[in-house]
Amino acid sequence: METFSCTTKIISGHGAIRELKQLKSKRLLVVAAPFFKDTDVPRRLQAAAGADSVAYFYEVKGEPSVELAAEGTALVQKFEPDTVVALGGGSVMDCAKAMIYFAGKPIPLVAIPTTSGSGSEVTDFSVLSHNGSKHPLVDKALLPAMAILDGDLLHTLPKSIIADAGYDVVAHALESYVAAGAGAMSKALARDAFVTALQKLPASYRGDTNVRQEIHLAATMAGVAFSQSGLGLCHAISHVLGGRFHIAHGKLNAILLPAVVEHNTAAYGAYAELARSAGLGAAADTIAVRNLRNALMRLRKELQQPQTLAQAGVSPREVAQQSAAIVKAALEDPCCKTNPVPPTEAMVQQILSQVTGLG
Ligand SMILES: [Fe+2]
Repeated sequence: METFSCTTKIISGHGAIRELKQLKSKRLLVVAAPFFKDTDVPRRLQAAAGADSVAYFYEVKGEPSVELAAEGTALVQKFEPDTVVALGGGSVMDCAKAMIYFAGKPIPLVAIPTTSGSGSEVTDFSVLSHNGSKHPLVDKALLPAMAILDGDLLHTLPKSIIADAGYDVVAHALESYVAAGAGAMSKALARDAFVTALQKLPASYRGDTNVRQEIHLAATMAGVAFSQSGLGLCHAISHVLGGRFHIAHGKLNAILLPAVVEHNTAAYGAYAELARSAGLGAAADTIAVRNLRNALMRLRKELQQPQTLAQAGVSPREVAQQSAAIVKAALEDPCCKTNPVPPTEAMVQQILSQVTGLG
């Protein structure tokens, strides 16, 4: 049995932000990354929405904290918008979701992602930090009413963000495809997103802006897929390491994903299917999976991502000292529930040793 739902209206294409006019907003609150303060994009949003009154919240500078979301909530309560627009990456979208949620009002959120990665524009998640650890809010009320995927906003993306966010898309699609909660509908989206990201990310990284609209849509497709199917062990370990060592989420996925594929032997049939869809096929599953791992490592190299935690600046001694706690926390992460097989302590320990590096 498969249940599939996507309540977010998705509008994709160059110039798509003009479709804000559909909302007929009178009072618009724009939550935007600080970068946009000195651009004409907020003015274009206001013009497209046709709103009489607009307020701006430019305070989201990194992963949002509970305190920052509360500050934004105070603005929601004071300004009383009829629509909130989130313009930025996953952190901005997560903060805007939490601001509306804490305000306790059913204000529609329009998510306009300006990086191609998190999928937050179509998920009912918001991750907030508090006292040095990450806390996911999960509630259907967090689902954006609309996602606008406008490739025109992606021309000036820094290479490091293309790489980090891009490897996150690859990890979302791949983990979703083999997840215990996957079905035919989520797999179709995950497969398409995976093939697009794998094939087009190197060109985007080299500066080809023509492929970015496709990758942008792939990021959203992967987001829809994993919000149905769940993710897996790569994300479980990545969440824990991200909280402890403050390395970009996509970098951690790039380090972990090939090792997780190797150790998830129960999913070799599904990995092989995906490899064949990406033109990496072979008659034997084990060869197809080897090709898939090689392709993931090749992509990692092309995007200049680290191969080990040591290369990302984490000392092997520190990993060794914390390894028991890391393994325990990874096994408690909700993403483990949908890994193709329930991960064991030994499996997580082996993956961790494999990715630590020699320094
Ligand atoms: Fe992710």
